[in-house]
Amino acid sequence: MKENKFLNKKVEASKPGDADKSQEGLDVKIEMATEKDWQEVKDLRLESILGESAQFLAPPPDMLKAELEKRDQEWQSELTPREDMFTVLARIGNEAVGIGRAIKEKDEKDAWRIRWMYVKPKFRNKGIQKKVIDARIKEIKKRGGKKAIAIISNPISIQNAKSSGFKLSILEKIKGKKHGFYRLEKDLTEPEK
Ligand SMILES: CC(C)(COP(=O)(O)OP(=O)(O)OC[C@H]1O[C@@H](n2cnc3c(N)ncnc32)[C@H](O)[C@@H]1OP(=O)(O)O)[C@@H](O)C(=O)NCCC(=O)NCCS
Repeated sequence: MKENKFLNKKVEASKPGDADKSQEGLDVKIEMATEKDWQEVKDLRLESILGESAQFLAPPPDMLKAELEKRDQEWQSELTPREDMFTVLARIGNEAVGIGRAIKEKDEKDAWRIRWMYVKPKFRNKGIQKKVIDARIKEIKKRGGKKAIAIISNPISIQNAKSSGFKLSILEKIKGKKHGFYRLEKDLTEPEK
């Protein structure tokens, strides 16, 4: 564990096998984040881009800097209900354990991008990401979205996206990144199998 000045707390390591099996069978609730959840959203997001998961989630340096410097008021206002973006939290009891955001694409009509996929190390491998993906798909459809896009590199996420009906579109190998980034798409006009 390492101290992180942005979170003012220890950042947990995230590696395969970290999942604590004793937590299995816990009741996971997926909910839409609102302004009142801003601190948990901020903590989860910063943990995801500064901790061990940064290899998969950290944005390019200029965007990372902007995100780290974001004021609390901005974290809060991003959660105000709006037509082109929403954030989902997974909770076990009162604890926020996973997060996902969805943002409407600016240059492609009726397409949405799912972003920010993160589950706290202790709660992994219990199907939480899958639930967070599926909840976003449901909400995107409700908002009239016709396509969902994910650009991801973690093999677990790629597998989960595929099992939620995403299909591999193109491989984008980003220079300097350890893992290849894959673009996956899901056609939301097709009936669910
Ligand atoms: C990727 C991540 C979100 C997955 O979250 P999760 O809630 O643990 O995933 P799920 O439990 O929904 O995954 C279920 C599936 O993945 C498999 N899986 C999950 N963790 C695994 C692991 N550590 N090793 C191998 N397989 C794993 C499960 O076996 C299961 O597959 P199955 O349905 O065929 O049995 C989580 O590991 C994470 O936050 N990682 C760091 C951040 C990150 O990489 N985000 C994605 C950016 S591309």
